[in-house]
Amino acid sequence: MSQARIAGTGSYLPRRVMTNAELECLVDTSDEWILERTGIAQRHIAADGETCADLAEQAARAAMAAAGPDNGSIDLVIVATSTPEHVFPSTACRLVERLGLPGGVIAFDVAAACSGFVYALDIANRFIRTGGAHRALVIGAEVFSRILDWSDRSTCVLFGDGSGAVVLEASDQAGILSTHLHADGRQTSLLNVPWGVGQGYEALEAERGTVSMRGNEVFRVAVRTLGGLVDETLKANGLERGDVDWLVPHQANIRIMDATARKLGLPAERMVSTVARHGNTSAASIPLALDEAVRDGRIQRGELLLLEAFGAGFTWGSALIRY
Ligand code: COA
Repeated sequence: MSQARIAGTGSYLPRRVMTNAELECLVDTSDEWILERTGIAQRHIAADGETCADLAEQAARAAMAAAGPDNGSIDLVIVATSTPEHVFPSTACRLVERLGLPGGVIAFDVAAACSGFVYALDIANRFIRTGGAHRALVIGAEVFSRILDWSDRSTCVLFGDGSGAVVLEASDQAGILSTHLHADGRQTSLLNVPWGVGQGYEALEAERGTVSMRGNEVFRVAVRTLGGLVDETLKANGLERGDVDWLVPHQANIRIMDATARKLGLPAERMVSTVARHGNTSAASIPLALDEAVRDGRIQRGELLLLEAFGAGFTWGSALIRY
């Protein structure tokens, strides 16, 4: 059985930046409140007509360029998203065409909300380890700006648009050391977009679906759940607090991220944090942060990374990676 390692990373952010000051003009909020409660100062917003597939394609191209010349051999494409361009075909299938990949590749989307990238990485790792694929594109891409109620101050200040990608390839060296995925559907009422084809035509035409969240309750579940996930991941790998080189967390709220870093015994500078500039980009946030820290030289080959996420469902998951 072969192992899977990250061969290259890439990311993309829409050009338009929306600051907290702009949000002050839309809803009853303040830069100070948003910064203090979330750590977010700005977010990127997709242009009119810019879709999930557009964002995913840019990140994929960057990751493929970073991974090197063997891109013709990509045989698996997984896109994690909750904001696909269409009900179908999947965003992954759109990319097969846009990237000029040969017919015969495997391509599908994964919906696990903010945990989607970790879910997709786990699936790609299993394909590679069992010989079902050799070189996979794993992408997280979101246009959450399209599913926000811009008059709801409790949600519209939190999210942003973006995409991130990795090329995962078969290798003799262990790259993905372990993955841990979970879901619990009993608290769907705390965080959801209660809209979709199940609503029937009239409801679909009457309103657009938007994020609904009981933020402080989600916050408490997230901190507790991620603490347990850290314990589970360290234990499965025989590691102690402080053994990990980098925490690359889902970027929902700096207070949740800091709590996880403390649980891991890591100083703040060992956590990759993009939440101030990107906001919560859901399934895109981890690969966006990973790509940034790889490109600016913070994350070096051979270092030990812990990726973790928590999202609607609830879903949660982690990946321990020797980069
Ligand atoms: N600006 C100003 N005030 C706001 C506000 C905003 N944008 N949003 C909410 N408030 C108000 C509330 O109305 C409330 O007012 P009240 O006390 O008069 O009722 C007050 O601020 C406190 O609200 P609360 O929801 O308790 O704040 P909080 O400290 O829990 O912070 C979140 C809110 C959403 C930032 C925080 O709960 C959070 O990040 N939750 C997790 C979100 C998350 O991770 N979601 C995705 C999972 S992937």
